[in-house]
Amino acid sequence: MSDILLFAVLPYVAVAWFLLGTIIRYRRVPFTYSTLSSQFLENRKHFWSTVPFHYGILGVLVIHLAGLLVPSSILWWNAVPARLFILELSGLALAFLALFGLINSMHRRLTMPKLKVVTNASDWILYLLLLVQIVLGMLTAIYNGWGSSWFSSSASPWLWSLIKLSPEPAYVAAMPLMIKLHIINAFLILAFFPFTRLVHILVVPNPYLWRKTQVVLWNRERRKARISD
Ligand code: HEM
Repeated sequence: MSDILLFAVLPYVAVAWFLLGTIIRYRRVPFTYSTLSSQFLENRKHFWSTVPFHYGILGVLVIHLAGLLVPSSILWWNAVPARLFILELSGLALAFLALFGLINSMHRRLTMPKLKVVTNASDWILYLLLLVQIVLGMLTAIYNGWGSSWFSSSASPWLWSLIKLSPEPAYVAAMPLMIKLHIINAFLILAFFPFTRLVHILVVPNPYLWRKTQVVLWNRERRKARISD
């Protein structure tokens, strides 16, 4: 019963919540669709938080996505032990990078008074969810060996069963508790997404890709402007 609730109902509730929350926030307060960056308040620690976190987490998510979209290619790649090691170690190294960035980011917001002012409860809930997600993922990779292979043969078909609206929780029901928690927490992150800074993912400078080049012209007499400044 609980497996049905967690692995056949929760994912849909999370996706519905994600879609509804994202749309409502965009319609009501579109200008909050941003990271609300604090880089201008402090730059050095910001660099050592943001850069490793993003490279790490994006790399990990690309590997997850490959397991979902091209599971047979992952299984083909993993058929040679050396290649399996490379993939597993790359995943773990990227996870370390993301963890390093996340911990730096939390430390930065905890220790700098200026940043405390612009940090709210939603930021801390998000930090906690991400921390739990990364740590559980790393423990899964360490204690339940060759996850990239069994992700492709068990987790991927379960995710596809959800996408095809014919959920088959049996694929994940027998998995160890740690992995189940990793999966459940992923859907909690998805449900909480609309209430966080993560909404910036949906508006990453996308328009820059197709909008016309902007030309900025100096429109004031320089000397006058310098005096009045
Ligand atoms: C918010 C979404 C998610 C994030 C941020 C995330 C993050 C991570 C991280 C940091 C790792 C450790 C790095 C690695 O070894 O690859 C990991 C591993 C893993 N994750 Fe996730 N994960 C997410 C969603 C999921 C979901 C939905 C599933 C399954 C349906 C899943 C299954 C796994 C498995 C099987 C591993 C072990 C991989 C291995 O041993 O190579 N993850 N995850």
